[in-house]
Amino acid sequence: MIENKKIPLEEFLTIRKEVLRTWHTGNHPGLDLDVAVAKLKALPDHKNFAKKLRKAKEEGITLVQPRAGVARLNEHIELLQYLEVEGHADFLPSTIDSYTRHNRYQNAEDGINESEKQGRSLLNGFPAVNHGVDGCSKVLDSVNSPLQARHGTPDARLLSEIIHASGWTSNEGGGISYNIPYAKKISLEDTIRYWQYCDRLVGYYEEQGVEINREPYGPLTGTLVPPCISNTVAILEALMAAEQGVKNITVGYGQGGNLIQDVAALRALEEQTNHYLKIFGYEDMFVTTVFHQWMGGFPANESEAVALIGYASTVAAMGKATKMITKTTHESFGVPTKEANAKAIRTSRYITTILKDQQTPDSEELLVEIEQIKKEVDSLMRSVVKAGKGDIAQGSIKAFKDGLIDIPFAPSEINNGKILPARDLDGKIRILEFGNLGFTEEIKKFHQDKLQARAEKQDRPLEIQMVIDDIYAVSNGNLVGEKENN
Ligand code: 5AD
Repeated sequence: MIENKKIPLEEFLTIRKEVLRTWHTGNHPGLDLDVAVAKLKALPDHKNFAKKLRKAKEEGITLVQPRAGVARLNEHIELLQYLEVEGHADFLPSTIDSYTRHNRYQNAEDGINESEKQGRSLLNGFPAVNHGVDGCSKVLDSVNSPLQARHGTPDARLLSEIIHASGWTSNEGGGISYNIPYAKKISLEDTIRYWQYCDRLVGYYEEQGVEINREPYGPLTGTLVPPCISNTVAILEALMAAEQGVKNITVGYGQGGNLIQDVAALRALEEQTNHYLKIFGYEDMFVTTVFHQWMGGFPANESEAVALIGYASTVAAMGKATKMITKTTHESFGVPTKEANAKAIRTSRYITTILKDQQTPDSEELLVEIEQIKKEVDSLMRSVVKAGKGDIAQGSIKAFKDGLIDIPFAPSEINNGKILPARDLDGKIRILEFGNLGFTEEIKKFHQDKLQARAEKQDRPLEIQMVIDDIYAVSNGNLVGEKENN
């Protein structure tokens, strides 16, 4: 039975031997832990993700990071250099391709070879495992910013080994957030175990005096996710990471659309992550936040997409997120060109820089919303802790099974899939159908009242059509779905 317990070193090293055998690039001498520690220690501060985030946090500024990844090593390097020089990206990503995310390394190898033959990328990201420690190290050597792997991989153990041994000082993902929104049939027990391993690896490096950042994936399905749900998952993953020895953690949140609710969600997320880490006994944690520009359907029109990117950047800056993940005007078409990607970063960064000395004032509306989100998160956290009889790994598994936590629109069969979110009158995300969500009656009443008020104003019944209208609203130029769209 899985528990939220630090993996003992001997056990970790035994599993590690198995993990490194799963593909031949796991044989590289750079994967010797002493060699990797020495390499990571020799990194200059400006290439260390955790250190650059800490500096940003101290300065109260929001740094920007795009997504980007192609199949061929040299093309990937040129892409990242372009985003750094032309886009002014503060952090660089390597978005990993789908084959690697599914541990299908032979398919990735074929994809690289075919891409070489055709002279263009035939994969939707960078196959880091196949390029191995040599390739990934070359990427880092070719740029001047810290590097992070961004993916969606349920079992990222070998990938994590390779990227960290190559000097990449951040990894995105988690046992819940890289399962429920990404996989259909993989058990939570398995993915929590895999991510305990990834976090234990980072814990090992931290024990050796190397700082490595970890980022649970905040937006989940990116579609009308109520802040309390994504914040709870982020906190659970932060706690599980901390148990394995992670010290630098960036909790994430995807733009919901209402400015006040988004700022409130960011504030609640940071405060409650620190709060829960402390009450669970984890000291010396350094918590930062990441805001994701709109993760739902994007407008196809370029000007409208730029406007949405600008709006998101405003919210990230006014909400004092430490980092923001950018989108591009190509979002509704596919993987962006490097030019479109750089333009979007530049647009975003212009706004976060111009707003860096401002923040949202503490209005009544903001404070009420922060308290509301916190109350909901507390209610969900209580139900997880209770379900696991004090153990949050067990509790998370049980909570998903029983629907105490339920992520809207997730493909996973483990997820209950009974809740339905909808927007209230001013576009804040509320909940229409609760399924078996671990909420008190008082919280349910709050949501019902908010949605009832919208139904009355729009002169329509509280029904699923409202949810559907809300899903498509933003790509059509509205926040709250309108009745006429039916
Ligand atoms: N390059 C750039 N962006 C990517 N995304 C996925 N793969 C890549 C890539 N290789 C983006 C998608 C979506 C988000 C989840 O990631 O456009 O916005």
